[in-house]
Amino acid sequence: MPNTLTRDYLRSCVWKDDLFKGKVVFVTGGAGSICRVQAEAMVLLGADAMIVGRNGGKAELAAKEIAELRQGARVLSASADVRDVNTLVAAVKTTVKELGRIDFVVAGAAGNFLAPITGLSPNAFKTVVDIDLNGSYNTAKAAMSELLKTKGSIIFVTATLHYRGLPFQAHAAAAKAGVDSLMKTIAVEFGPLGIRSNCIAPGPIEGTEGMSRLGSGEVQKRAYELVPLGRYGSTQEIADGTVYLFSPAATYVTGQVLVVDGGQWQTSSPRMEEYPKALIAMGEQPNKI
Ligand code: COA
Repeated sequence: MPNTLTRDYLRSCVWKDDLFKGKVVFVTGGAGSICRVQAEAMVLLGADAMIVGRNGGKAELAAKEIAELRQGARVLSASADVRDVNTLVAAVKTTVKELGRIDFVVAGAAGNFLAPITGLSPNAFKTVVDIDLNGSYNTAKAAMSELLKTKGSIIFVTATLHYRGLPFQAHAAAAKAGVDSLMKTIAVEFGPLGIRSNCIAPGPIEGTEGMSRLGSGEVQKRAYELVPLGRYGSTQEIADGTVYLFSPAATYVTGQVLVVDGGQWQTSSPRMEEYPKALIAMGEQPNKI
């Protein structure tokens, strides 16, 4: 996957060049669609970066491509599964050894799929909670000692899935509700030590797997109509929210969820366009244990 952003970002965005010069960002899920672009924006604006991914080869390629965005950028990669805190501790050690510090953490690694509860085994539920919630905790735990040194900032990538009951997302919604809670506890426990903790909650973002499943035609048209701003968002818009939360413009902002969804959750939940037809069509499913 090539870079989404180019140096044109610096001409079109409202942020100033070198905003994050001398800073280092540690990004889990950094080779994926949303977190990759968060990393690209940070690097374009002067930060060095560590791209952490479960697939080492994919993370390495992403790091190489992101480094090409800015002359002199140092962008490393590490293979780590957020379910294993030791792999994260190793990635943190490498970051500090090679890049000297960690100022910002994006805890973005996530796993998800659509499944009704009848089709969701206890292990499937646990797997997603392990990645999304426990993985976020492990990331914060592994990086916290470095954030304490720099009085840094952490952003968890959450969602709006849990704002309402949402079919097919029992696992991810429960995990993201936990992520929001964890973020608030960290804001309160570590605020006195100079650390800010926030979440960014992407809404329907063009080009991500979940959204492309909706396809086109009437369902897509209805999906657009349910977003007050009348369109899906872009990964750049999530990156811009991230830049804001890490920037000196947000030095008094902590314990917050920044929802970047065009207002969608106010009117609907993602993928509710076919409710309840899709559930009725499912009929009597055997309960997967
Ligand atoms: N529907 C129902 N159950 C599913 C499923 C699906 N689409 N996909 C996986 N599972 C179940 C598996 O059957 C297994 O349960 P079981 O042991 O009872 O059979 C359990 O989930 C774990 O699956 P496994 O493939 O062993 O896990 P993994 O650690 O290799 O993969 C996932 C993790 C399941 C989250 C996988 O989808 C993934 O790696 N995703 C990463 C990419 C991604 O999700 N991107 C979107 C980010 S928002």
